[in-house]
Amino acid sequence: MKSSDKEIKILGVIGNPIKHSLSPLFQNYLLKRYGIPWYYIPLWIDGEGFLQFWKGCRFIKNLAGFNVTLPYKEKAFSFCDILSEEAKVIGAVNTVVCREGVMYGYNTDIDGIIYTVKNKLHLETLDGKKVLIIGAGGAAKAALFALYKLQAKDVCIVNRTLEKAHALMEYGKSFYNMNITVFPFSMLNEAISQVEPHLIINATSIGLNETMEIKVDFQTYLKDLKIFDMVYNVGGTKFVNNAIKFGIEAIDGIYMLVFQGIKSFTLWTGLENIDVEEVITFLKNEVKYRYGENFNNR
Ligand code: ATR
Repeated sequence: MKSSDKEIKILGVIGNPIKHSLSPLFQNYLLKRYGIPWYYIPLWIDGEGFLQFWKGCRFIKNLAGFNVTLPYKEKAFSFCDILSEEAKVIGAVNTVVCREGVMYGYNTDIDGIIYTVKNKLHLETLDGKKVLIIGAGGAAKAALFALYKLQAKDVCIVNRTLEKAHALMEYGKSFYNMNITVFPFSMLNEAISQVEPHLIINATSIGLNETMEIKVDFQTYLKDLKIFDMVYNVGGTKFVNNAIKFGIEAIDGIYMLVFQGIKSFTLWTGLENIDVEEVITFLKNEVKYRYGENFNNR
């Protein structure tokens, strides 16, 4: 790090709402861990304040950058001055680096998805594998790009609103040259039976609260099926926990959250080779200490 980095700078995360974000916990842990005297704060911005916030950022000389979460990822994309390849492709920014009034936009969610699939589900490549994505919103679009980077060619999109699934299918066919089929959410189990996927990714918000869950008849499916739920929960999501009961390798979105954050941290500080497992251990202990066992009850 340069000596100028010993100045106190500000980092943060903007969203609406923001109180559930775990990013301040582990980003401040990383700052302390690496002896960087900066602060990472949650910034709750309502819709009308977004533009003023953005304009103001250009004048805050000690603002190093910030993360962007729902519902501002697309807006941040439109307002950044310079965009990374990933941000351009999916039309969303989750990390902003501020330097002398210039706003640089990145999307590190893609890295988080790729990290999870490769390191936690042990799928080095998806070449020759079939993947089923549940959802067709922004998260699904990011997942589709990550799948392309992992060489997936056969994808099935399952979504409640069929038009959105078709729009994502057209996008995937023309930009990534993938073979894509579409099913309505009400036919999820039929889609799984027909497609026989090696990997299912939940890219919907189902599982964020306890009232909804994705019901899959795991007993019927092959044992080499793997599950990646982009939603996270300390105790695992119901979707993941059900899969594990049937001997299926499954992981929730906690590694994606931490890895995208580590990539943002590297963009802001230049520090690399951060130990992901160390951050996960910190976060799990911290959340348990602060909020009890369950992320969603905090
Ligand atoms: P994000 O940017 O996080 O992907 P989004 O664009 O609002 O957010 O997309 C949310 C996804 O979750 C969509 O695929 C949505 O389905 P629709 O396209 O039909 O809206 C899906 N989703 C959310 N709640 C759902 C529910 N209760 N049942 C089925 N799908 C749901």
